[in-house]
Amino acid sequence: MLPFKSLISSQQLTPEIIDNIFNATDLMQEQISSVGRSTLLDDKIVALLFFEPSSRTMLSFQSAAQRLNAGTVFAQNAASTSFEKGESIEDLIRIVAGYADIIVMRHAQPGSAAIAAQTSDVPFINAGDGGNEHPTQAIIDSYTIHKHIGRLDNLNLMFGFDALQSRSIHSLTKLLAQYPNNTFTFVGPDQLLPDKKFIGELEQSGAKCITQTNVAINDDCDVIYVNRLQEERFNDRAVFEENRQKYRLETRHLVGKKALILDPLPRIDEIATEVDTLENAVYFKQASYGVPVRMALLALLLDKEL
Ligand code: NCD
Repeated sequence: MLPFKSLISSQQLTPEIIDNIFNATDLMQEQISSVGRSTLLDDKIVALLFFEPSSRTMLSFQSAAQRLNAGTVFAQNAASTSFEKGESIEDLIRIVAGYADIIVMRHAQPGSAAIAAQTSDVPFINAGDGGNEHPTQAIIDSYTIHKHIGRLDNLNLMFGFDALQSRSIHSLTKLLAQYPNNTFTFVGPDQLLPDKKFIGELEQSGAKCITQTNVAINDDCDVIYVNRLQEERFNDRAVFEENRQKYRLETRHLVGKKALILDPLPRIDEIATEVDTLENAVYFKQASYGVPVRMALLALLLDKEL
């Protein structure tokens, strides 16, 4: 059970709720290892609507639904739905709510998740609404940090290199700002650092925020979280081209550093492949937590006893 019907923003995810989701995730992980599949969602259908490119989120939600024996209905791009004909998000959601017991949607429009959740008669999960938020990714990311470091408070975290447009960074920082004594250092070119309003909101939640334009890792950094420059969201392509090669994490930045290295992936230019062999590079492991986390979310939002 969760105290909300739909997940739109990681601001909904208090430390208490995160504890519940992590416990459920551990149970799901045990279940994957022991029996592989269960019949928990035998009586349910999950709708997966992906109107922006996705591989990890789409496939791990599909895998999560199948591991719990739910049926799925699926729409992968706008061209194959009535969106192409001009149908509104509200109308689409009204229809799909009649076909499924829970809706997962990724959409290019920031704020589309809130509109969909308001309209839907069934639980709704935001799988990314444009450059706004990606709360299920933030749960995976915080689960990874907790599993490897053992806490979500008193952390020094570095975020690069497009905190302005990365919905993964938005959602993870909003989640972690709810824990005490976290410091966020945002690294990137001036044009891609978070805006004043966003930083103000994080600071109001209690996080300390620092900005920095050069790639340099502090010795006391606990977590380095990088995400590709969000190519599809640039108004000025020159800013993307100018910075994509400049902002890359390489082994020379990491000599003697203990920080855990995360990336929601896909990797484009932001991490050199030479980093992959470092013990603290956990981004592929991080991606693997997507299935048990999303199984937990589906089960909890569908009010199943675990
Ligand atoms: C992220 C996304 O879609 O925002 N990917 C993901 O879900 N793992 C990160 C990205 O696309 O850069």
